[in-house]
Amino acid sequence: MEYRNQEGFERKSGSGENIIPKHSLEIEGIQELSYALEEAINRLRINVSFMGKKVRKIMVTSTFPNEGKSFIAQQLWRRMAEAGIDSVLVDADLRNSTLADRCRMKTDSKQPMGLSHYLANDCELEDVIYATKTEGAHIIPNLNNVVNPSILFEGDRMKSLLDELTKTHRYVFVDTPPLELASDGQLLGTLCDGVILVVRADSTSKRLVQKSIHQIERSGCQLLGIVLNRAGSKKSSRYYYGKEKYGYGYYRKSDYYGKHAAENAKS
Ligand SMILES: Nc1ncnc2c1ncn2[C@@H]1O[C@H](COP(=O)(O)OP(=O)(O)OP(=O)(O)O)[C@@H](O)[C@H]1O
Ligand SMILES: [Mg+2]
Repeated sequence: MEYRNQEGFERKSGSGENIIPKHSLEIEGIQELSYALEEAINRLRINVSFMGKKVRKIMVTSTFPNEGKSFIAQQLWRRMAEAGIDSVLVDADLRNSTLADRCRMKTDSKQPMGLSHYLANDCELEDVIYATKTEGAHIIPNLNNVVNPSILFEGDRMKSLLDELTKTHRYVFVDTPPLELASDGQLLGTLCDGVILVVRADSTSKRLVQKSIHQIERSGCQLLGIVLNRAGSKKSSRYYYGKEKYGYGYYRKSDYYGKHAAENAKS
């Protein structure tokens, strides 16, 4: 389905009718990015949009906490919408979601509900999907951390939610807990079309990154690419092809296994 937004850009959404969220949510505290980082994020967005029509549900994960998965997921989601491509961000970090606090979310709903409420059968999709100030950028936040979300993800409701969202949004970005700390990421990966692995430069060893790659592939998920986040120090520059040092680098799976595999195996 395609339509034009107020500015006259052609908008691209999913294949069905549009969901009209009942409530909206204000996200404050979005950090200003440097020009170089803006450019790098923009390039990542373009790379994602070249991944083909079948790639719609994209999980963003990492090996450890604090590597930048929520940052990358939020940037991709917002930039896609700003470019006229309807996108929804699903905060599936049900164990330790920091998105709600960090972004200082404000909602007009009297009884705000999020993903865990929906998965527990407490409400409908319209109750948990929120509009934001950015046209075409909807969000399903997590407003209630739970101890064992795997059970919730294993049920049919998560799968049908993601499938439903692809009818109304071109991209569904799924933010997750880290792979080393919980099995949620592997479970969610099986419900998505592909995975972006975020690696914090100079922090996670190549051995553990490779372990995460194998974990993703063993569970049958397609690894779409690896984002090397917060690169720029001398040590991390060895990851780059050229002289550029941006906020992060991006590799397709073939680059990682091809050009870099030999170096990686040595270290
Ligand atoms: N490329 C970047 N440039 C600037 N700040 C960044 C970048 N990547 C991440 N950050 C910041 O680093 C902090 C940690 O990032 P983030 O919350 O995205 O990590 P995470 O992997 O989602 O962590 P968790 O596993 O706890 O959910 C945040 O304050 C985020 O804004
Ligand atoms: Mg996070």
